[in-house]
Amino acid sequence: MLGDFSYCNPTKLYFGAGAVKHLNDELPKYGKNVVLIYGGGSVKKNGIYDEVVALLESNGKDVAEIAGVMPNPTVEKLYEGMEIARRHKADLLLAVGGGSVCDYAKALAVSVNCDEDPWEKYYLRFDEPTCEVLPVGCVLTMVGTGSEMNAGAVLTNHKSKLKIGHVFADEKVMPRFSVLDPTYTLTLPHYQMVAGIYDIFSHICEQYFSGEDDNTSDYIAEGLMRSLLHSSRIANKDMKDYEARSNIMWTATWALNTLISRGKSTDWMVHMLGQAVGAYTDATHGMTLAAVTMAYFKHILPFGLAKFKRFAVNVFDVDPTGKSDAEVAEEGLKALESWMRELGLVMNISELGVTEDMLEGLADATRIQRGGYKILDRAEIIEIFKESM
Ligand code: NZQ
Ligand code: ZN
Repeated sequence: MLGDFSYCNPTKLYFGAGAVKHLNDELPKYGKNVVLIYGGGSVKKNGIYDEVVALLESNGKDVAEIAGVMPNPTVEKLYEGMEIARRHKADLLLAVGGGSVCDYAKALAVSVNCDEDPWEKYYLRFDEPTCEVLPVGCVLTMVGTGSEMNAGAVLTNHKSKLKIGHVFADEKVMPRFSVLDPTYTLTLPHYQMVAGIYDIFSHICEQYFSGEDDNTSDYIAEGLMRSLLHSSRIANKDMKDYEARSNIMWTATWALNTLISRGKSTDWMVHMLGQAVGAYTDATHGMTLAAVTMAYFKHILPFGLAKFKRFAVNVFDVDPTGKSDAEVAEEGLKALESWMRELGLVMNISELGVTEDMLEGLADATRIQRGGYKILDRAEIIEIFKESM
């Protein structure tokens, strides 16, 4: 491990069936005024909303609500929430939902006391908060993003056709606590479950496919990927399998809670390509990643051959005997593709609504990262989008 780093993750987790009762441990730590944040209504249908509200009431909280946080939350929705949280003098923001709701709560946490436009400050200039950051708690209902234990908050700006994630350096932006109950995820439709599974896998790959040094983080990453492949195959056949779903939930958290990026460089180019697709189509995050992955990986394979070979052998059990490095690496990518197809992921961006006339705009919306095995230029980005069609 050649990199130097600091590591601190202050989020307290409560994991397991019935874990929501631990709101009784957390709620008393904060003032009376809670803003309860949720999405388009799944939590009302499956009863999670009622359970959380009952606990807020028994803890004597005065609750205001921000409802209807959409998948891929928008900057307009942020402005609306800032008004509500300010009026209510919020002491705690409680997010009940998936990554979109958790991300939104974090974006709100840094914006309520901010005296500038938060989009300009945090998403265009990537500044850190200089105001008081409100505390956030999460009750997670959709697995994938890792938002429950990280300081990332992704927002979409439809006017400027940009989807941008800010991973704040300030630990105060991380949720103070998160409730992870695998049974809360059992009502997810299959499409969302597999999109989440692929999001997890992609997060691990983004941190794995970078750097050449021998690094503990990469061995942890391989273990997480193997666990995910195993559990995802079980959950894909039987969505109600608690053991598999709980493993997937825990893997998601560790895939993106900053641990496996310690001491190494990272890539994140699949996410940049996927986010551009998201900005134009509003498609489900995990599917945007799946749809661009194969074209991107095939493009960078020659530049990161040693790592792609290691991936094939250590993650997909490809037998390297008698084969060239390139053959082993390519067999690994074939195994990845066949697992993706087995899950039923969307494998091309046309299916997500991308048309030829969007390609130049997609390239404009793609933020080039420098940590991968090949720094892409604009022509390569267009080429990869074309391949992904
Ligand atoms: O809105 P409701 O009605 O709640 O429905 C949601 C939504 O339609 C539904 N859902 C959630 N829990 C459910 C459920 N349906 C039935 N039963 C349940 N238990 O699922 C749909 C998708 O939810 P969403 O929160 O949008 O999904 P996800 O968790 O994938 O979050 C996606 C957002 O997170 C960002 C993405 O870009 C996207 O904006 N990301 C955040 C990251 C981070 N904080 O580090 C990293 C990721 O790479 C990602 O970019
Ligand atoms: Zn992601």
